[in-house]
Amino acid sequence: MKKLEKLNKKFLRDGYLIQNVEDKKALQYINSLIKNKLFNLLKIKSKSGSLDDVHKFVKKSELNSTRLKLINFINEDKEFRKKYFEIGKNIIFSVIGNELAMQNNINLSIQIPQDDSSLLPLHSDTWSGDSPFEVVVWIPMVDVYNTKSMFILKQNKSEKFRKYFSNKKLKLSSQLQKKFKKDLVFLNIKFGQFLIFNQNLPHGNVVNSTNETRVSLNCRFKGLFTPYAQKKLGSFFSPLIVRPASKIGLNYKFPGEEKE
Ligand SMILES: [Fe+2]
Repeated sequence: MKKLEKLNKKFLRDGYLIQNVEDKKALQYINSLIKNKLFNLLKIKSKSGSLDDVHKFVKKSELNSTRLKLINFINEDKEFRKKYFEIGKNIIFSVIGNELAMQNNINLSIQIPQDDSSLLPLHSDTWSGDSPFEVVVWIPMVDVYNTKSMFILKQNKSEKFRKYFSNKKLKLSSQLQKKFKKDLVFLNIKFGQFLIFNQNLPHGNVVNSTNETRVSLNCRFKGLFTPYAQKKLGSFFSPLIVRPASKIGLNYKFPGEEKE
């Protein structure tokens, strides 16, 4: 319990946590599913190949369609969402609460070296329809570091950023990214670990200048009864954990309320 309290404090202080996956078998399930399907799509015969080397087998022009096929495939798998949750269940409960909503479709990102076609410049998810009550669980399928990873603004710079954002004329994401360059941290995360972060904190990525491919997954979680923004329960999120008292409450009808 003490450990979780410490981690909660750290999450508030830094805006993120990097932890070892809680269920290694769940990670293995997810990783095998992705690797087998991706190798299949790219007609890679060798089973010993690494996801780090995906760029050697994919044309830039086919990258996005391959990614979309892979996203469809993983989201059709009945076990995938459950396994995803199991990777960080205790931390998710600790940071968010024990009644949860989970994003319907899990996202997958493939960042091959020197590719600028699918970058996410500095942004907060709240700028595009996400509620500030959401957190993102981000799971790399390979070791990520430096530009192969994503960056996040240091929590202690977020007030400065907010003031800058509201007072100055630098509204373009690229200008802000330049201005705050030294306050952005690239997160080093090993395969076998996961990241949980506050998506209100500006974050993004740059051209991957390493010589390895990044394959990573991301999915949002939130307290089931916390406010929703444009991404609603039903269309974007589904209930994941609903406790009995809430089920009773949600189904309750006052006598006389029911129409015969
Ligand atoms: Fe984001």
